[in-house]
Amino acid sequence: MKKKLLSMLLAVAMVATMLTGCGSDTTTTTDDTTADDVAADDATADDATADDAAAGDEGGAASGDVQVGIVLPTKDEPRWLQDQAQFEAILGDAGFTNQVLFSQGSSATEKTNVETLISQGIDVLIICAQDASAAAAAVEAAKDAGITVIAYDRLITGTEAVDYYVTFDSFSVGVAQGQYLIDNAPDGTGIPLYLYAGAATDNNAFIFFEGAWSVLQPKIADGTFVIANSSEAEALKDSAELSREEIGKIIGQVTTDWDFNVAKSKAEAHLTAAGADMKGDVLVLGPNDGTARSIADVFATDKDVTSFKITGQDAETASVQYVIDGKQSMTIFKDTRTLAADSVAMAVAVLNGETPATDTTYNNEVKDVPAKQTDIVVVTQDNVKEALIDSEYYDASEFTGLE
Ligand code: GAL
Repeated sequence: MKKKLLSMLLAVAMVATMLTGCGSDTTTTTDDTTADDVAADDATADDATADDAAAGDEGGAASGDVQVGIVLPTKDEPRWLQDQAQFEAILGDAGFTNQVLFSQGSSATEKTNVETLISQGIDVLIICAQDASAAAAAVEAAKDAGITVIAYDRLITGTEAVDYYVTFDSFSVGVAQGQYLIDNAPDGTGIPLYLYAGAATDNNAFIFFEGAWSVLQPKIADGTFVIANSSEAEALKDSAELSREEIGKIIGQVTTDWDFNVAKSKAEAHLTAAGADMKGDVLVLGPNDGTARSIADVFATDKDVTSFKITGQDAETASVQYVIDGKQSMTIFKDTRTLAADSVAMAVAVLNGETPATDTTYNNEVKDVPAKQTDIVVVTQDNVKEALIDSEYYDASEFTGLE
């Protein structure tokens, strides 16, 4: 490996350490970039030090323009624009050549993106899979080209070709969502509980649900809560632990596909089908912010729903405003500064021939993938300022009604 590349990597490592260790002065704003361009056109690539980019590659047709390739799922969800901003800040500042590509909800586009990056001569691929199992083929192609593969936020399953995984503590996300509903439930028993989940193609959706179920199940089993919208969950209410297949059955009924429109139409259908006993003061397990806002808007317009508590995650600006306004009960702050910095630090270590720091493993069905895990923060009206403004993740001017 050339000296110049090594010194750049060290610079990145320093930036990553700064970001991880003492917080960043980078203020993230989710930009309004539209997703109407094809993914490749949206790519950003620094052209500095292109001659060094492919150092260490063994042959092939690599053009050597890009050192680190990043593939993210979609621009249509603000969550991933947060991650994009962090990557560009860290890698760009360090003079690291990089390219960020979006898959726009398509595994085929994702595969093409990975192939594009391979042809650019990347040394490291950081990828957040569109579909956990479909992404296996893409990362196997990268691995065959000698590239180190880091799964980002979402684990890729059924393949040996994942070297490392950087993730938030997704089980804790689900636990926090479930526990919020328990702690803020109305008094009494027989309280209607509406369950919603993420996409069945996303490994995280299973972990989130598993975490939520771990705390909600005893309350369902003892009759405090009554499931309003899933016969599969109802049938499993006495099982403290669910197999992946069982969770899959529940997700099959209550998935939002991480899609605002699917979430909206499911919520409408559920409330149309619900009898009077499933209305009144209700609880809603909203899997993430985008879907929670859709579901909350539907529940807010049903005159027989007297009150509802609904969870979310991602601290998207629109949901932070909903929390401030009392329209969404909570969100979960997943500090993308840390996740991006961790994955870059991991890439730096690999390229320097070191073993990256990991603190746990995640099984992807064929191997235990060494992983670095980051904690999450529950955000409610009470701590929104402290968690998101004082930490300089957002600027107060992005919101109204903050004290
Ligand atoms: C998950 C991710 C969440 C949420 C969701 C929908 O994998 O962990 O933060 O964004 O996808 O994109």
